[in-house]
Amino acid sequence: MTEKDAPIGVFDSGVGGLTVVKEIMRQIPNERIVYFGDTARVPYGTKSKATITRYSEQIVRFLQKSQVKAIVVACNTASAIALEELEGKVKLPMIGVVKPGAKVAVGATQNGRIGIIGTEATVSSGIYTKYIEQFSHNIKVIGKACPLLVPLVEEGLLQDPVTDEIAKRYLDELIDIDIDTLILGCTHYPLIHTTIQRIVGENVNLVNPAYETARELKEMLKQGGLISNNEAGLGSDRYRFYVSDGADKFKNFANSIIKYGILTAKTVNIEEF
Ligand code: DGL
Repeated sequence: MTEKDAPIGVFDSGVGGLTVVKEIMRQIPNERIVYFGDTARVPYGTKSKATITRYSEQIVRFLQKSQVKAIVVACNTASAIALEELEGKVKLPMIGVVKPGAKVAVGATQNGRIGIIGTEATVSSGIYTKYIEQFSHNIKVIGKACPLLVPLVEEGLLQDPVTDEIAKRYLDELIDIDIDTLILGCTHYPLIHTTIQRIVGENVNLVNPAYETARELKEMLKQGGLISNNEAGLGSDRYRFYVSDGADKFKNFANSIIKYGILTAKTVNIEEF
């Protein structure tokens, strides 16, 4: 296989990165993908920098063994905490979800008040504010950590009164301060997009960084001469999914989100990498 036709590696702490995979499949359908969801160790958002970095490095080593041509860090927490260090160590084109999300939010706001919801690690890193300030100086950014939303999504409670109630408690604070744009700063949250939109109201733009991430990924591959055009040779293993635990549960979840035939998932002992 030529380098162009090698797969793109995508990872997240669990199912959240599937929201990014779905967008990559839509925007660059001729690409192969190897996905890793760290379902045994999710959530990342409550863990320390050292742990998040160690986990991310292990996954990158696993993806490198699968001979990927580029890596998408489809996890805001890992993008916020570990991406810089990974970029320093790994000689592969790499993209995270935070910078693309910040860029879209700056373009979307009219009143200059952007809310960002994410994990504790992402929100306390202040990384969205840092990137938003690079794009514009007159914007107020208000962050709110929503730690309980990730386990609710991992449990598949996408439309459930419990998820509604918890999301409402987190979001009330942001509604009160009149944001007009809200970044879904965790790749799990687009899976409860409808619930979040209902709570914040139709006048608030919800930004899902996945779209812009896939667009920038395509650009990055083009510039590196790495775009695949080998549709005929993609074969049945064009999309491969790996997890660190609970492969069957993950497979069912993935199939409910990505309507691409039947996806299979395999378990990997990620601690070996
Ligand atoms: N989906 C991830 C994110 O975008 C991580 C959630 C977690 O593991 O806490 O931040």
